[in-house]
Amino acid sequence: MPKTVLITGASTGIGRAAAVLFHQNGWNVAATMRSPEKSDLVPTDRLICPALDVTEAVSIEGAIATTLEQFQHIDVVVNNAGYALIGPFEACTPEQIEQQFATNVFGLMNVTRALLPHFRQQQAGIVINVASIGGQLALPLYSPYHATKWAVEGFSDSLAYELEPFNIRVKIVEPGPIKTDFYTRSMAIAHRPGLDVYDALVAAALPKLNQSEQTGSPPEVTAQVIYRAATDGRDRLRYPAGGNASFLLLLRKLLPDSLLRRVIRQSIIGRGTP
Ligand SMILES: NC(=O)c1ccc[n+]([C@@H]2O[C@H](COP(=O)([O-])OP(=O)(O)OC[C@H]3O[C@@H](n4cnc5c(N)ncnc54)[C@H](OP(=O)(O)O)[C@@H]3O)[C@@H](O)[C@H]2O)c1
Repeated sequence: MPKTVLITGASTGIGRAAAVLFHQNGWNVAATMRSPEKSDLVPTDRLICPALDVTEAVSIEGAIATTLEQFQHIDVVVNNAGYALIGPFEACTPEQIEQQFATNVFGLMNVTRALLPHFRQQQAGIVINVASIGGQLALPLYSPYHATKWAVEGFSDSLAYELEPFNIRVKIVEPGPIKTDFYTRSMAIAHRPGLDVYDALVAAALPKLNQSEQTGSPPEVTAQVIYRAATDGRDRLRYPAGGNASFLLLLRKLLPDSLLRRVIRQSIIGRGTP
C-alpha cells in the first residue's frame, strides 16, 4: 500500500516540488494549499489538493479529513507553509508580527497537533518541519522571520523526545537560499511612513538580501532532502538543504560571534553604512 504525505503550502516553491517528487516516487500526496483553484498541479488518484490555510483551525481539520477519506492513512506531514516579514523591527506593526507567527509557528504547531492522534493510533508517523538556516543564523532586517524559525527549531527539537515512545519521528529541514516566490510574491516588507532613520540600511541591504531570488538553489534540491528525511529511516533530527546550507551552518558553528557578525555585516550592509 502506498504511503501518504500531507504537505502544507504546496502551491509553489519547495512545497510544490516536494509534492511532485513524492508523487513521482509512488506516494499518495495531499498537496494542501490556500487556493487550490490557482494550482497547476494535476490531480490524480494519488494526488489531491485540499484547501488548507494553516492559520485557520477549521481548514486544517477539513484538509486532514479529506486526505483520510481519500487515502485512509497519513504517514508523513511536511509543515512547509511560511513566508518572511522583513524590514526594520520598528517598522513592523504588531499585527504583521502576529501574522508572521500565526503562519510560521502557530500554524505549524496546529497542523502537527491535529495529526498526532492519528499518528499515535497507528503507532507511526513522521513530522517534517521546514525551518531554515535562518533558525540558527541571523541576517539584518529579518528579525521577525528569524524569531519564527528559531521557534520552529526549539519546538521541533523538544517535541522529538516526547513523540519517540509512539514511534513518531520529528525532522527539521533547514534550507539555505532557494530560488522561489519567497523573495517576491510571498515576502511582506514592513515600511512605516516617516520612519526614515533606517532608509540607508534598507537601501544597502535589501538588494543583497534579495539576490538569492537569482542565485539560490532550485526548490527541487530541498524537495530531495525532504524526501530523504521521510524515507531514510534514520534517527536524525536536522537536514540542511541546498543553497550552501551545510557550509553556512558550519561557519555558524566554527566562527566566534564577533567574526561571523563582521562577515555578515560587510557582505550584506557594506562598509560605511550605519
Ligand atoms: N526560499 C528560501 O530561500 C527559503 C529558505 C529557507 C526556508 N524557506 C522556507 O521554505 C518554506 C517554503 O517557502 P518557499 O521558498 O517555497 O516559498 P514560496 O514559493 O513563497 O512558498 C510558500 C508557500 O507557503 C504558503 N503559505 C503562506 N501562508 C500560508 C498560510 N497561511 N496557509 C497555508 N499556506 C501558506 C504559500 O501559499 P500561497 O500560494 O497561498 O501564498 C506558498 O504555497 C517556508 O517555510 C520558508 O520559510 C525558504
